[in-house]
Amino acid sequence: MAASLQGKTALVTGGARRIGAAICRALAARGAVVAVHYHHSEAEAVALGRELANGTLTVRGDLSQPAEREWIFREAAEWLGRVDILVNNAAQFVRDGESDVAVLRAVNVTAPLELAARVSEQTTGGCVVHLLDAWVDGSEGEGYREYAASKRELADSLAAHAREWAPRVRVNGVAPGPALAPERQREAAGRVLLAERPTAEAVAHAVAFLAENEAITGQILYVDGGQHLMRRMF
Ligand SMILES: NC(=O)c1ccc[n+]([C@@H]2O[C@H](COP(=O)([O-])OP(=O)(O)OC[C@H]3O[C@@H](n4cnc5c(N)ncnc54)[C@H](OP(=O)(O)O)[C@@H]3O)[C@@H](O)[C@H]2O)c1
Repeated sequence: MAASLQGKTALVTGGARRIGAAICRALAARGAVVAVHYHHSEAEAVALGRELANGTLTVRGDLSQPAEREWIFREAAEWLGRVDILVNNAAQFVRDGESDVAVLRAVNVTAPLELAARVSEQTTGGCVVHLLDAWVDGSEGEGYREYAASKRELADSLAAHAREWAPRVRVNGVAPGPALAPERQREAAGRVLLAERPTAEAVAHAVAFLAENEAITGQILYVDGGQHLMRRMF
């Protein structure tokens, strides 16, 4: 694969497992040096770090805690030299009532916005990719209203930041549909328009594409097998 991100550095939050790990692999395969953030998944983060070709920092922290958010960014920026690519992947995907709404919002909205603001303060160019959800198209996300609202709030910030931080920093989003069922729930993730649900690798490919393409800012790319189009059909 062409090393299109050679010389670039990246911080991926929640990067140890699942979609986050696929994103770390996709960025590293394109030449980026990746800092893998994790919270509980230390063994997976360390194993992934050994696997990635270009050298990896693993950095632990709870994104619901302001001091730990600060520490995560400082550690990554010091080790990497700067953060060229920030992928805000970590999130709480929980049913309404399963989690403290303040914690959900801290992880899903405050943390990505704070980390993105830190990238915008750097003097060199940067790129932020927020992992959103296909529910940002305005659908209710039945049973997951707080989660869906948190992702919509993040999506709503995107265009303003893309304008405000241009030309130095690009800001884009990837809105996955049902790629991986939540581990604890194992519930069906709904139908899609295409033959197959999106894979974690397909989501990661979209993130890497947005990181690579320096002509794109303020965009949301749906990687949902066309599911958002089905909602518009009825
Ligand atoms: N899976 C899907 O099909 C799907 C669909 C639509 C949107 N998305 C979005 O795509 C992204 C990745 O999805 P996913 O299913 O792979 O995510 P996930 O497994 O639900 O969560 C990703 C990581 O977030 C980290 N995290 C959660 N709370 C944290 C906290 N307080 N502090 C620090 N890290 C925390 C966890 O890290 P540790 O494991 O290290 O604790 C976890 O591994 C998410 O933003 C999600 O909302 C996913």
